Amino acid sequence: MKKYLLTSALPYSNGYLHLGHLAGAYLPADLFARFKRLNSEEVLYVCGSDEHGVAITIAAEKEGVTPQDIIDKYHFANKSAFEGLNISFDIYSRTSNELHHNTAREFFADFIKKGFLEKKESEQFYDETANMFLPDRYVEGICPSCGKEDARGDQCDNCGAYYSQTELKNPISLISKKPPLLKKTVHWYFKFGDFQDFLENYINQNEEAWKDNVINQTRSWLKAGLSERAITRDLNWGVKIDNIEGVDPEEAATKRLYVWFDAVLGYISATKEYFGNDDWKQWWQSADTDYIAFIGKDNIVFHTLIFPAMLHARSDENNPYLLPKNVPAHEFLNLEGQKFSKSKNWSIDLKDFLDDFKNPTYVDVLRYSIAMSFPETRDADFTWKDFVARNNNELASIFGNFINRTLQFSHKNFEGKIPKLSGNYQDFDNQWNNAVEQNQFDQLESNDKDLLEKVIAELSSVQESYNKYRFRDAITSSMNIARAANKYFNDEEPWKSVKSNPELAAKSLFVCCQLAYNLSILLSPIIPNSAKYIMDLFSSENYTGESNGKLKQATNYWEKITKLNFKSGTAIQKPEIIFGRLDDSFADKQMQKLGDKNNNSSKEVFENVITIDEFFNVKLRTAKVISAEKIKKSDKLLKLIVDLGGEQRQIIAGIAKYYSTEEIVNKYIIVVANLKPAKLMGELSEGMLLAANFKKGLKLATFDGEIPLGAEVR
Ligand code: MF3
Ligand code: ZN
Repeated sequence: MKKYLLTSALPYSNGYLHLGHLAGAYLPADLFARFKRLNSEEVLYVCGSDEHGVAITIAAEKEGVTPQDIIDKYHFANKSAFEGLNISFDIYSRTSNELHHNTAREFFADFIKKGFLEKKESEQFYDETANMFLPDRYVEGICPSCGKEDARGDQCDNCGAYYSQTELKNPISLISKKPPLLKKTVHWYFKFGDFQDFLENYINQNEEAWKDNVINQTRSWLKAGLSERAITRDLNWGVKIDNIEGVDPEEAATKRLYVWFDAVLGYISATKEYFGNDDWKQWWQSADTDYIAFIGKDNIVFHTLIFPAMLHARSDENNPYLLPKNVPAHEFLNLEGQKFSKSKNWSIDLKDFLDDFKNPTYVDVLRYSIAMSFPETRDADFTWKDFVARNNNELASIFGNFINRTLQFSHKNFEGKIPKLSGNYQDFDNQWNNAVEQNQFDQLESNDKDLLEKVIAELSSVQESYNKYRFRDAITSSMNIARAANKYFNDEEPWKSVKSNPELAAKSLFVCCQLAYNLSILLSPIIPNSAKYIMDLFSSENYTGESNGKLKQATNYWEKITKLNFKSGTAIQKPEIIFGRLDDSFADKQMQKLGDKNNNSSKEVFENVITIDEFFNVKLRTAKVISAEKIKKSDKLLKLIVDLGGEQRQIIAGIAKYYSTEEIVNKYIIVVANLKPAKLMGELSEGMLLAANFKKGLKLATFDGEIPLGAEVR
């Protein structure tokens, strides 16, 4: 029996995860896991937080707390965000667990014993002010490969080159901001080069099945030649290596395992934790298992070369570890045309999304729209406009519409039940199901035949696409089945036949109602909340591919998709509209948040400060807008007459893009009353009104109730 062991890259618990992470390694794996589980395959989907390394210690320094505080904060936040997004891990563990530390130490000890490690002295950057060795990312400088400034100490964001920190030009310590010294230190190196032949062979075997981007990056490493890699660091956060046979405890006291050495082993320790006994071996050490590692493109060689080398090195007769069968790495997702960037606050964090959208349908819309823009072969873009369009034009107009019209119709005409078959259609369900089983459709009438053939053909594309990790294609083919369902409804014209030929109408709805259920199974990997909601209208025992304790699902739900599964008379509860339409302002409003965040992110520094007297030189007064008209030849300006109590004035205001003339009349506003009059587009302006200006909009300062006019504002 084939089993699927699925892992997603363990995210660092040093910050909140965003949509880019979701698109890279988690949503694709979740779609795959659910698809397989719905097919009654045995699936174990493992993940957890990566809690070591300088990613964590740097975050701790930034927030002024301990590394433990950091990992606790983000581990739990990210774990619950994953739950909110229905990522169906069987376990979400963390690498700070003792079990994990022991697993990593066991690999290290085994490698020492087998002679795969070598201890060597080298020169490393040292910060004299802080009295410490500087791990990779504590040093920045000019990339030796492309010349980019402020490149990180281990890898260049700009050109992707990996190097050792001492290769950086003009290095600077991030701690003291001074150039570091070179100082001798001792580290353990993994003899990666010894595995060159083995890995070349491994990659050759997988060349066909793996994605081009994955093969290309891996090949370029192989071509450059593999050399030993330091797997320890001078750091006081991470997995300790003292107390290991063959390791001098004193020498090891200040060392920790390099984070990448232990992180990949987190997949194994999480599996051990999940089972709590030796059953984990049935996954990691069983020839029946296909191990698929889902990752983003920045993690490729760690999963195609380094981890496989480690697994191979650790393997022996008693412990024959599996290597990844596939590593379907995604490229990056951008946000509204720009890279996600925490420092620029150009991000949508999963946590914020869940806080903003409590209705679980939105989670489905997000999953759907992200999956339809998966960066499968090249970088892709998430935009709110696309989110709205996917919701309106696909989920609402195609899928939602079919569900809705079908179930409404059955409630109006068939008492909310799957109609009774009679007359010519007496035996229709058996005919249909036999046709499916025998792959023989000639006995069916033309609409039924067309529909069923289409369903079967598209379904096989869906299946094939999922199996090749082509998720966008899988979903597109799935939606084609929903399109075929709508076409069937249209072609059958039950609204006519319900009067002229009730037996036919009953058959049409018999099919459509069941299709509503079947489409929900089909789409449940992508939109599990809505799928569950619809399936529950029919019966209470349903499944949408969530974690089921790695067990083989007793019922194969996928097989039901082509069948008519319910008997006449089955009651269907009446649904609410599932996917409401979103208007354009929805996208604008979300964009605003991105802009706003940007504004708030950096504290403004003012060079000119004013005294209170200077402030009082500006005479602010309350006023009410009496009338407003557009100014010809200007799409920006409105001509307002405002009442300041004792007097009326004309003000020309640049707000026409944001307020209509009707909207603004009767608003209570604030005007600068002692501004020198000026002419704008030939019109006199005797003052100015106050408004908030932000990147994508403008809002007037108004009062929360009526107030006397001409009152002082200060
Ligand atoms: N934490 C790493 C990152 O976010 C990924 C680790 S993947 C693992 O880039 F395999 F090492 F777990
Ligand atoms: Zn570079």
